[in-house]
Amino acid sequence: MSAVSPEAKRVTVRDFHLRRERGERIVMVAAYDAVFARLADEAGVDAVLVGDSLGNVVAGHDSTLPVTLDHMIYHAGAVRRGLRRALLVVDMPFLTYQVTAEEALRNCGRVMQEAGAQAVKLEGAGPRSLAAVQAATEVGIPVMGHVGFTPQSVHAMGGARVQGREEADADRMVEGALRLQDAGAFSIVLELVPAELAARMTEALSIPTIGIGAGRRCSGQVLVMHDLLGFSEGFSPRYLKRYANLGGDARDAVRRFGDEVRAGGFPTPENEF
Ligand code: KIV
Repeated sequence: MSAVSPEAKRVTVRDFHLRRERGERIVMVAAYDAVFARLADEAGVDAVLVGDSLGNVVAGHDSTLPVTLDHMIYHAGAVRRGLRRALLVVDMPFLTYQVTAEEALRNCGRVMQEAGAQAVKLEGAGPRSLAAVQAATEVGIPVMGHVGFTPQSVHAMGGARVQGREEADADRMVEGALRLQDAGAFSIVLELVPAELAARMTEALSIPTIGIGAGRRCSGQVLVMHDLLGFSEGFSPRYLKRYANLGGDARDAVRRFGDEVRAGGFPTPENEF
Protein backbone atom coordinates (compact mmCIF):
# COMPACT_ATOMS: atom_id res chain seq x y z
CA MET A 1 0.00 0.00 0.00
CA SER A 2 1.25 3.49 -0.81
CA ALA A 3 -0.25 6.98 -0.87
CA VAL A 4 -2.39 7.54 -3.95
CA SER A 5 -1.36 9.83 -6.82
CA PRO A 6 -4.00 12.16 -8.37
CA GLU A 7 -4.18 10.17 -11.65
CA ALA A 8 -4.27 6.72 -9.97
CA LYS A 9 -6.20 3.98 -11.76
CA ARG A 10 -9.28 2.39 -10.13
CA VAL A 11 -8.69 -0.93 -8.37
CA THR A 12 -10.77 -3.79 -9.82
CA VAL A 13 -11.40 -7.37 -8.75
CA ARG A 14 -8.75 -8.36 -11.32
CA ASP A 15 -6.20 -6.48 -9.21
CA PHE A 16 -7.15 -8.68 -6.25
CA HIS A 17 -6.11 -11.74 -8.26
CA LEU A 18 -2.94 -10.06 -9.53
CA ARG A 19 -1.95 -9.05 -5.99
CA ARG A 20 -2.42 -12.62 -4.81
CA GLU A 21 -0.41 -14.02 -7.73
CA ARG A 22 2.41 -11.59 -7.04
CA GLY A 23 2.34 -12.30 -3.30
CA GLU A 24 1.37 -8.67 -2.53
CA ARG A 25 -0.89 -8.31 0.50
CA ILE A 26 -4.33 -6.76 -0.04
CA VAL A 27 -5.44 -3.92 2.25
CA MET A 28 -9.12 -3.28 2.93
CA VAL A 29 -10.88 -1.10 5.51
CA ALA A 30 -14.53 -0.84 6.48
CA ALA A 31 -15.94 2.70 6.32
CA TYR A 32 -19.41 4.16 6.25
CA ASP A 33 -19.25 7.74 4.97
CA ALA A 34 -17.59 10.00 2.41
CA VAL A 35 -15.11 11.55 4.88
CA PHE A 36 -13.59 8.27 6.04
CA ALA A 37 -13.76 6.87 2.49
CA ARG A 38 -11.74 9.80 1.13
CA LEU A 39 -9.11 9.43 3.89
CA ALA A 40 -8.77 5.68 3.23
CA ASP A 41 -8.59 6.24 -0.54
CA GLU A 42 -5.91 8.90 -0.16
CA ALA A 43 -3.97 6.55 2.16
CA GLY A 44 -3.84 4.03 -0.69
CA VAL A 45 -6.01 1.13 0.50
CA ASP A 46 -7.03 -1.38 -2.17
CA ALA A 47 -10.67 -1.65 -1.16
CA VAL A 48 -13.24 0.00 1.07
CA LEU A 49 -15.96 -2.22 2.46
CA VAL A 50 -19.24 -0.66 3.51
CA GLY A 51 -19.76 -3.23 6.23
CA ASP A 52 -23.09 -3.95 7.84
CA SER A 53 -21.00 -3.51 10.99
CA LEU A 54 -22.30 0.04 10.63
CA GLY A 55 -25.23 -1.32 12.68
CA ASN A 56 -22.87 -1.66 15.66
CA VAL A 57 -20.28 0.99 14.92
CA VAL A 58 -22.30 4.02 13.85
CA ALA A 59 -25.93 3.16 14.65
CA GLY A 60 -25.23 1.85 18.17
CA HIS A 61 -27.05 -1.48 17.82
CA ASP A 62 -25.65 -4.59 19.50
CA SER A 63 -25.65 -6.60 16.26
CA THR A 64 -25.79 -6.17 12.48
CA LEU A 65 -29.30 -7.66 12.28
CA PRO A 66 -31.29 -4.36 12.29
CA VAL A 67 -29.42 -3.07 9.21
CA THR A 68 -31.60 -2.86 6.07
CA LEU A 69 -30.84 -2.74 2.37
CA ASP A 70 -31.86 0.94 2.27
CA HIS A 71 -29.39 1.73 5.07
CA MET A 72 -26.62 0.01 3.12
CA ILE A 73 -27.47 1.80 -0.12
CA TYR A 74 -27.52 5.18 1.64
CA HIS A 75 -24.10 4.66 3.29
CA ALA A 76 -22.60 3.02 0.19
CA GLY A 77 -23.60 6.04 -1.90
CA ALA A 78 -21.81 8.31 0.57
CA VAL A 79 -18.68 6.13 0.49
CA ARG A 80 -18.80 6.00 -3.32
CA ARG A 81 -18.64 9.81 -3.42
CA GLY A 82 -15.50 9.76 -1.25
CA LEU A 83 -13.58 7.27 -3.42
CA ARG A 84 -11.48 7.87 -6.50
CA ARG A 85 -9.36 4.75 -6.65
CA ALA A 86 -10.20 2.01 -4.13
CA LEU A 87 -12.60 -0.83 -4.97
CA LEU A 88 -16.03 -0.36 -3.37
CA VAL A 89 -17.42 -3.54 -1.78
CA VAL A 90 -20.82 -3.41 -0.07
CA ASP A 91 -22.21 -5.87 2.47
CA MET A 92 -25.59 -7.45 1.74
CA PRO A 93 -27.51 -7.23 5.04
CA PHE A 94 -29.40 -9.98 6.85
CA LEU A 95 -32.16 -11.68 4.84
CA THR A 96 -31.53 -9.76 1.63
CA TYR A 97 -29.87 -12.75 -0.07
CA GLN A 98 -30.96 -15.90 1.82
CA VAL A 99 -34.69 -16.11 0.98
CA THR A 100 -34.51 -16.91 -2.75
CA ALA A 101 -31.79 -16.58 -5.37
CA GLU A 102 -34.10 -14.29 -7.41
CA GLU A 103 -34.53 -11.93 -4.48
CA ALA A 104 -30.77 -12.04 -3.85
CA LEU A 105 -30.10 -11.08 -7.45
CA ARG A 106 -32.53 -8.14 -7.35
CA ASN A 107 -31.08 -6.88 -4.07
CA CYS A 108 -27.45 -7.23 -5.21
CA GLY A 109 -28.50 -5.44 -8.41
CA ARG A 110 -29.95 -2.54 -6.38
CA VAL A 111 -26.66 -2.15 -4.51
CA MET A 112 -24.72 -2.06 -7.78
CA GLN A 113 -27.15 0.31 -9.56
CA GLU A 114 -28.24 2.64 -6.77
CA ALA A 115 -25.02 2.86 -4.74
CA GLY A 116 -22.42 2.37 -7.48
CA ALA A 117 -20.83 -0.65 -5.77
CA GLN A 118 -18.22 -2.62 -7.70
CA ALA A 119 -18.77 -5.79 -5.65
CA VAL A 120 -21.01 -7.14 -2.91
CA LYS A 121 -20.13 -9.28 0.10
CA LEU A 122 -22.35 -11.88 1.68
CA GLU A 123 -21.95 -14.24 4.61
CA GLY A 124 -21.89 -18.00 4.87
CA ALA A 125 -21.24 -21.02 2.69
CA GLY A 126 -24.54 -22.87 3.09
CA PRO A 127 -26.83 -23.70 0.16
CA ARG A 128 -28.71 -20.37 0.31
CA SER A 129 -25.55 -18.27 0.29
CA LEU A 130 -24.06 -20.40 -2.48
CA ALA A 131 -27.20 -19.99 -4.61
CA ALA A 132 -27.03 -16.22 -4.10
CA VAL A 133 -23.32 -16.11 -5.03
CA GLN A 134 -24.01 -18.12 -8.16
CA ALA A 135 -27.01 -15.99 -9.19
CA ALA A 136 -25.07 -12.74 -8.75
CA THR A 137 -21.83 -13.84 -10.39
CA GLU A 138 -23.74 -15.29 -13.38
CA VAL A 139 -24.92 -11.77 -14.28
CA GLY A 140 -21.51 -10.21 -13.69
CA ILE A 141 -21.78 -8.99 -10.10
CA PRO A 142 -18.49 -9.72 -8.29
CA VAL A 143 -19.10 -11.37 -4.90
CA MET A 144 -16.82 -11.52 -1.89
CA GLY A 145 -17.62 -14.39 0.51
CA HIS A 146 -17.32 -14.28 4.30
CA VAL A 147 -16.79 -17.35 6.51
CA GLY A 148 -15.61 -18.13 10.03
CA PHE A 149 -17.51 -15.95 12.47
CA THR A 150 -20.37 -14.50 10.44
CA PRO A 151 -21.96 -11.67 12.47
CA GLN A 152 -25.44 -12.10 10.96
CA SER A 153 -25.47 -15.54 12.69
CA VAL A 154 -24.27 -14.15 16.03
CA HIS A 155 -27.18 -15.66 17.96
CA ALA A 156 -26.79 -19.11 16.40
CA MET A 157 -23.03 -19.02 17.03
CA GLY A 158 -23.44 -17.96 20.67
CA GLY A 159 -21.52 -14.70 20.31
CA ALA A 160 -18.44 -13.46 18.47
CA ARG A 161 -16.35 -16.63 18.86
CA VAL A 162 -13.40 -18.09 16.99
CA GLN A 163 -14.69 -20.71 14.53
CA GLY A 164 -13.04 -23.95 13.40
CA ARG A 165 -11.06 -24.99 16.46
CA GLU A 166 -12.32 -28.59 16.15
CA GLU A 167 -10.96 -30.65 13.26
CA ALA A 168 -14.38 -31.53 11.85
CA ASP A 169 -15.45 -27.86 11.89
CA ALA A 170 -12.17 -26.86 10.29
CA ASP A 171 -12.66 -29.40 7.49
CA ARG A 172 -16.20 -28.14 6.92
CA MET A 173 -14.93 -24.57 6.72
CA VAL A 174 -12.30 -25.47 4.11
CA GLU A 175 -15.00 -27.27 2.07
CA GLY A 176 -17.34 -24.29 2.42
CA ALA A 177 -14.68 -21.88 1.20
CA LEU A 178 -13.96 -24.10 -1.80
CA ARG A 179 -17.69 -24.19 -2.61
CA LEU A 180 -17.84 -20.40 -2.48
CA GLN A 181 -14.93 -20.28 -4.89
CA ASP A 182 -16.68 -22.76 -7.22
CA ALA A 183 -19.87 -20.67 -7.03
CA GLY A 184 -17.88 -17.72 -8.39
CA ALA A 185 -16.68 -15.67 -5.37
CA PHE A 186 -13.62 -13.54 -6.24
CA SER A 187 -12.28 -13.49 -2.67
CA ILE A 188 -13.31 -14.50 0.85
CA VAL A 189 -13.18 -12.73 4.21
CA LEU A 190 -12.04 -15.04 7.04
CA GLU A 191 -13.24 -13.69 10.39
CA LEU A 192 -12.10 -15.09 13.77
CA VAL A 193 -10.39 -18.16 12.33
CA PRO A 194 -7.35 -19.82 13.95
CA ALA A 195 -4.20 -18.71 12.09
CA GLU A 196 -3.27 -22.28 11.11
CA LEU A 197 -6.69 -22.94 9.59
CA ALA A 198 -6.71 -19.58 7.78
CA ALA A 199 -3.32 -20.47 6.26
CA ARG A 200 -4.70 -23.86 5.19
CA MET A 201 -7.73 -22.17 3.57
CA THR A 202 -5.52 -19.61 1.84
CA GLU A 203 -3.39 -22.38 0.39
CA ALA A 204 -6.36 -24.50 -0.68
CA LEU A 205 -8.03 -21.61 -2.53
CA SER A 206 -6.99 -19.96 -5.78
CA ILE A 207 -8.79 -16.72 -4.82
CA PRO A 208 -7.49 -14.29 -2.17
CA THR A 209 -8.47 -14.47 1.49
CA ILE A 210 -8.87 -11.29 3.54
CA GLY A 211 -8.43 -11.86 7.24
CA ILE A 212 -9.82 -10.19 10.33
CA GLY A 213 -8.69 -12.08 13.39
CA ALA A 214 -7.36 -14.82 11.07
CA GLY A 215 -3.61 -14.41 11.43
CA ARG A 216 -0.76 -13.39 9.19
CA ARG A 217 -1.01 -15.91 6.40
CA CYS A 218 -4.09 -14.56 4.62
CA SER A 219 -3.77 -12.82 1.25
CA GLY A 220 -4.79 -9.53 2.87
CA GLN A 221 -6.23 -7.90 5.98
CA VAL A 222 -9.29 -5.82 6.81
CA LEU A 223 -10.04 -3.66 9.85
CA VAL A 224 -12.90 -1.29 10.60
CA MET A 225 -11.61 2.29 10.32
CA HIS A 226 -13.30 3.40 13.54
CA ASP A 227 -11.47 0.58 15.35
CA LEU A 228 -8.00 1.15 13.93
CA LEU A 229 -8.33 4.91 14.49
CA GLY A 230 -9.30 4.44 18.14
CA PHE A 231 -12.91 5.63 18.07
CA SER A 232 -14.38 2.38 19.44
CA GLU A 233 -12.72 2.69 22.83
CA GLY A 234 -14.56 -0.06 24.69
CA PHE A 235 -13.90 -2.62 21.94
CA SER A 236 -10.59 -4.47 22.34
CA PRO A 237 -10.56 -7.87 20.66
CA ARG A 238 -7.14 -9.57 20.52
CA TYR A 239 -6.87 -9.12 16.75
CA LEU A 240 -7.29 -5.35 16.82
CA LYS A 241 -4.37 -2.95 16.58
CA ARG A 242 -5.09 0.74 17.16
CA TYR A 243 -2.98 3.04 15.01
CA ALA A 244 -4.33 6.26 16.59
CA ASN A 245 -6.36 7.44 19.55
CA LEU A 246 -8.78 9.74 17.73
CA GLY A 247 -11.60 9.00 20.19
CA GLY A 248 -9.55 10.60 22.96
CA ASP A 249 -8.46 13.45 20.68
CA ALA A 250 -12.07 14.12 19.64
CA ARG A 251 -13.31 14.17 23.24
CA ASP A 252 -10.51 16.51 24.21
CA ALA A 253 -11.23 18.86 21.29
CA VAL A 254 -14.95 19.05 22.09
CA ARG A 255 -14.13 19.62 25.77
CA ARG A 256 -11.81 22.53 24.88
CA PHE A 257 -14.53 24.00 22.63
CA GLY A 258 -16.98 23.80 25.54
CA ASP A 259 -14.50 25.32 27.98
CA GLU A 260 -13.77 28.24 25.64
CA VAL A 261 -17.48 28.93 24.93
CA ARG A 262 -18.24 28.94 28.66
CA ALA A 263 -15.25 31.18 29.43
CA GLY A 264 -16.05 33.57 26.56
CA GLY A 265 -12.84 32.62 24.71
CA PHE A 266 -14.68 31.59 21.55
CA PRO A 267 -15.64 33.18 19.25
CA THR A 268 -13.05 35.94 19.10
CA PRO A 269 -13.21 39.03 16.82
CA GLU A 270 -11.38 36.97 14.11
CA ASN A 271 -14.36 34.61 14.00
CA GLU A 272 -16.88 37.42 13.58
CA PHE A 273 -18.35 38.97 10.39
O1 KIV B 1 -19.25 -5.62 8.42
C1 KIV B 1 -18.00 -5.58 8.41
O2 KIV B 1 -17.37 -4.56 8.76
C2 KIV B 1 -17.29 -6.76 8.00
C3 KIV B 1 -15.81 -6.79 8.22
C4 KIV B 1 -15.53 -7.00 9.65
C5 KIV B 1 -15.14 -7.80 7.37
O3 KIV B 1 -17.86 -7.69 7.52
